[in-house]
Amino acid sequence: MERIVIQGGKRLNGKISIDGAKNAVLPIIAATILAKGSSQIHEVPYLADVNTICSMLSSIGAVVERRNKQLIINTNLVNTTEATSENAGEMRASFLLMGPLLARYGKAKMLLPGGCAIGSRPVDLHLKGFAALGAEIVMEHGSIAAHAEKLVGARIYLDFPSVGATENLMMAASMAEGQTILENVAEEPEIVDLANFLNNMGARVSGAGTNLIKVTGVPELKGCNHVVIPDRIEAGTYMAAAAAAGGEVLIENVIIDHLKPVVAKLREAGVVVEEEADGIRIKSDGILQPVDIKTMPYPGFPTDMQAQMMALLMRAEGTSVISETVFENRFMHVDELKKMGANISTEGHTAVVQQVERITGAVVKATDLRAGAALVIAGLMAEGVTEIKEIKHIKRGYDGLVEKLSSVGADIRIVERDDESGAERIA
Ligand code: EPZ
Repeated sequence: MERIVIQGGKRLNGKISIDGAKNAVLPIIAATILAKGSSQIHEVPYLADVNTICSMLSSIGAVVERRNKQLIINTNLVNTTEATSENAGEMRASFLLMGPLLARYGKAKMLLPGGCAIGSRPVDLHLKGFAALGAEIVMEHGSIAAHAEKLVGARIYLDFPSVGATENLMMAASMAEGQTILENVAEEPEIVDLANFLNNMGARVSGAGTNLIKVTGVPELKGCNHVVIPDRIEAGTYMAAAAAAGGEVLIENVIIDHLKPVVAKLREAGVVVEEEADGIRIKSDGILQPVDIKTMPYPGFPTDMQAQMMALLMRAEGTSVISETVFENRFMHVDELKKMGANISTEGHTAVVQQVERITGAVVKATDLRAGAALVIAGLMAEGVTEIKEIKHIKRGYDGLVEKLSSVGADIRIVERDDESGAERIA
């Protein structure tokens, strides 16, 4: 199996350029279902999750073509509204096809998205919203079928500002009859990027980025061109890596405004963070102060950066308290970090990280995407060699992570290792 192997202790110096945002491009790819004709999406990263959602579109008849970082998607030949292929279950974002299929064809059938390491991941808010728009929902044999003669605009209040539910309902409402008001919605930058894409296709969406979105349905949407925003979580991950390893790294192609909570917490931890014209410069001697973190929906501190910050704080000069309020089980990385010498105790949604003098390399396992990123950061800080297994999780959300970190001086590589014999073959 492939593993990431890191020889820790190297300082990082140089530049890292950020790719298009995974959590923006996935709903935008789903939204192409709404459009007559071709859409061209630029700055699409090479990620396993992008491949998964593209193969799902192909499985229902769409024509998906990739030219470097550009996707050309034509959904005129879609011949079924049943996207029940097995790999759909693997990826939560596959459920984002439900809203567009319902809006364009009046029906959809999807596998109930699987839970994953970080929680049960229900879709009740999505379904409640579809029902409010006039859809009939039938759950059977592990799949969800929805159909509606026509969708009619409604006033919908989300019990929780769910990112996926906001996206699915915005897409469903874009072709519903009349006006839809979505209240208590998510305000993430990826919601704004999707709304911009929908409006470029001829939709009438306003208020994205606030907690109230208005959608006036239109009878038809047309394919368009769109450039995906940079990935704020990928950027935050490399900022934390540079802070942890020590050195000086310029993170290029970022929208600084999307990173305010991460910049604030890194500065609080004693990291020098300089905002420049073409990016964010991180300067660190690797010696950090403890900080308390509470994850919140945007514009609060992002849950997708919680694991990375925990790794960074393992050697901070004091005790840090981290509260995870968004997901019910997003501390899977704690046991793996403890194998490297971390002193972390968890109680429900709270983790207490106490200072340790030494973090040492070990064989560890990525349990989910951001936990894997946290283990990479820990490996950069550790004395000796760290081997990370199950790196398929990391490939879901980071394009070229090993190459990017190598380019700024990290001793990091991918090896192919036989899990029985332990024999290594450089991949
Ligand atoms: C999106 O997931 C992101 N994924 C996640 O990023 C991110 O962590 C999350 O938003 C929160 O910011 C994509 O955009 C593809 P939610 P999503 O619906 O939409 C509960 C990463 O690492 N909930 O906002 O699934 C849910 O259980 C990934 O890139 C319901 O109860 O997140 C969770 O506790 C991980 N009912 C909370 O809301 C619902 O119907 C937040 O979920 C929907 C959600």
